[in-house]
Amino acid sequence: MKKLIAKRLYAELYDIRVSDWEGEVDFYRGLILNSDLKSQGVLEVACGTGRVTMQLAKEEIDITGLDISSELLEIAQAKSVGMSNVKWILNDMKRFEIDTKFGFAIMPGHSFQFMNSPDEQVKCLEQIKQHLVADGLLVMHLDHQDFGWLAKLPNKKELVYKQGRILTHPTTNLQYRPSSAWSFEPSTQTATVKTNWEEVDRKENVTQIWEMEPKQLHCVFRFEMEHLLKRAGFSIEAVYGDFFKNKLTDESEEMIWVAKNTGDLK
Ligand SMILES: C[S@@+](CC[C@H](N)C(=O)[O-])C[C@H]1O[C@@H](n2cnc3c(N)ncnc32)[C@H](O)[C@@H]1O
Repeated sequence: MKKLIAKRLYAELYDIRVSDWEGEVDFYRGLILNSDLKSQGVLEVACGTGRVTMQLAKEEIDITGLDISSELLEIAQAKSVGMSNVKWILNDMKRFEIDTKFGFAIMPGHSFQFMNSPDEQVKCLEQIKQHLVADGLLVMHLDHQDFGWLAKLPNKKELVYKQGRILTHPTTNLQYRPSSAWSFEPSTQTATVKTNWEEVDRKENVTQIWEMEPKQLHCVFRFEMEHLLKRAGFSIEAVYGDFFKNKLTDESEEMIWVAKNTGDLK
């Protein structure tokens, strides 16, 4: 029960906690609106609360958002009431089947890192490929791993919780503070975050604690992604270090991949 409440809180507080990356929405918008593939619509894989979906939908792009979390999709759905160009699908990115092929598949916000084994990664990419038209484009936004940060993370037995900023719930006005502990397992490239949502009173005293299920994020490296995309039958059109199409360098904090569904394995 506590974990379910924590999951709901995560969803309800998502939009006030997560901001757009600089240039992010303009990047997707430009790529889609300047392409003939636009008329084939966009599939957003792991759309969450529709943070990006809704901004593209407002450009009259036909877009379908898919996510595994009913809590996040409920928030998303409420934003698109009365809009006929937006659809939402509750499904797993490793095994979804939709009776449509899209011009674009986009995966904003590092969501591919929820694929935690080569098998899951390939299944997800193959599912996406099956839902793209020939020459359709896949855009993936991943974290460019910070070795310095990862190297300092403890193992799971020595967790250190760090408190985030206090957030006011958009409907109840109650106050919550996330408290998170990261750990890293180098042998599987897995970073795990355990988060507790602390309900706090006006004096910032903790009145309740809602504990979330730990989230495991796979730390994807550049050449791993290149191999995966090629294995799943994509050709690589570009890899950028930010949404302004700058080159991926040692200093880049993001990795943005643009890949094409070529149909054949390269
Ligand atoms: C960091 S959030 C990003 C959400 C959104 N793309 C954004 O940028 O705001 C990661 C998302 O991946 C979704 N997710 C995780 N595993 C998934 C799976 N197996 N299938 C579909 N969605 C999944 C989560 O529910 C969550 O919405």
